[in-house]
Amino acid sequence: MVFFPLILAFSISVQALTAPRTGEPSPSPFSAQVIFQSSVLLENIAARASSELLLTSFASPTLFTLDPKTTNGTLSAVHTFPNATALTGITEYQPGVFAVIASVINTTTFRAALGSVVVWSIDLNSHTPTVDALCALPTVEGPNAVTAVPGHPDIILMADSIAGGVWQINARTGKARFVIQDASMLPNRPAPALGINGLHVRDAAPDALYFSNSQKGILARVLICVEDGNIRAAGAVEVLATIQSADAVQSPDDFAFDRDGRAWMTVHPGAVALLSPPVNHSGQWTQLNAVGNAVGSDPQLIQPTSAAFGRGNAVQEQRLYVVTGAGQIMAVDTKA
Ligand SMILES: *[C@@H]1O[C@H](CO)[C@@H](O)[C@H](O)[C@H]1NC(C)=O
Ligand SMILES: *[C@@H]1O[C@H](CO)[C@@H](O)[C@H](O)[C@H]1NC(C)=O
Ligand SMILES: *[C@@H]1O[C@H](CO)[C@@H](O)[C@H](O)[C@H]1NC(C)=O
Ligand SMILES: *[C@@H]1O[C@H](CO)[C@@H](O)[C@H](O)[C@H]1NC(C)=O
Repeated sequence: MVFFPLILAFSISVQALTAPRTGEPSPSPFSAQVIFQSSVLLENIAARASSELLLTSFASPTLFTLDPKTTNGTLSAVHTFPNATALTGITEYQPGVFAVIASVINTTTFRAALGSVVVWSIDLNSHTPTVDALCALPTVEGPNAVTAVPGHPDIILMADSIAGGVWQINARTGKARFVIQDASMLPNRPAPALGINGLHVRDAAPDALYFSNSQKGILARVLICVEDGNIRAAGAVEVLATIQSADAVQSPDDFAFDRDGRAWMTVHPGAVALLSPPVNHSGQWTQLNAVGNAVGSDPQLIQPTSAAFGRGNAVQEQRLYVVTGAGQIMAVDTKA
């Protein structure tokens, strides 16, 4: 979540978004198109096994869904969470069951009101969703992305962008613990600058927690282990890449891994960067500008906030869905 109030003033038609422009920086190597223009800005995305996309907004307490296989589909409300103005992270932590973070967020300071952050579970396995509050996080001001932990279906991890660390929520007991904190997860300035933002655990024996830090502009990882049911860091943080460009400030947000272990990183103000691990597993990751550009002049990709691979069939699985702060949902053909 890196939110720019300016975008609220934007009013963009789908025609304007898809119109070709001349004089753009070098074209993207991957074909990409906006498949939906939402009137609410979008913050996070998850794909269901059925292919349907789940979408959260920094400016709405409603969880939305869209079927990306339908041309000109409609955004439908799944559930509206009480006592909240924003939904940030969403992740599937058990089959068909998603964790969603609700809060009341001040869109000037980007701080959540103390006492407003609640971790919810929404079970979409039956026609009518079952919604349960897992726990409240009364001291958290920077609720952001969440991730599941392979092999530990009760554990959900949440990035705290302001405290610079990671919360563990146990979905069975409803207990929350602040389990990892590191200088690499803090922002260098107070909010609205945000530190750790996106996070994903990769099953790599030992597991590794990968995260972006928006203000520091990095992708990093830390090995983790589970001890007595609790996650802890099992090593020092390793910075894998610094997202930079010669002429613009680059601020990474959320990201998605593909099957080859490459990270597709949304980068403010207007790009998706493809970060690939070094062939011999040591050294810095390489970077390619996959979609958009560093100066944010691509009208199809305005303040990208999150990305997720499609699911449900082979075509969907090679498609990366990117959501933006201007309400765009873009489909990127990652095999192109
Ligand atoms: C989808 O919407 C676009 C833009 O409004 C329109 O040009 C197109 O005909 C629509 N496609 C279908 C299948 O309805
Ligand atoms: C919402 O907040 C009000 C006032 O603090 C409280 O009484 C109510 O129980 C809350 N609702 C839920 C579902 O948490
Ligand atoms: C958000 O924070 C700013 C700065 O502290 C404050 O002036 C403003 O009133 C807050 N907005 C809301 C809706 O509380
Ligand atoms: C492995 O990576 C390191 C660091 O980038 C580099 O110095 C080394 O030459 C690489 N070795 C091989 C065999 O590619």
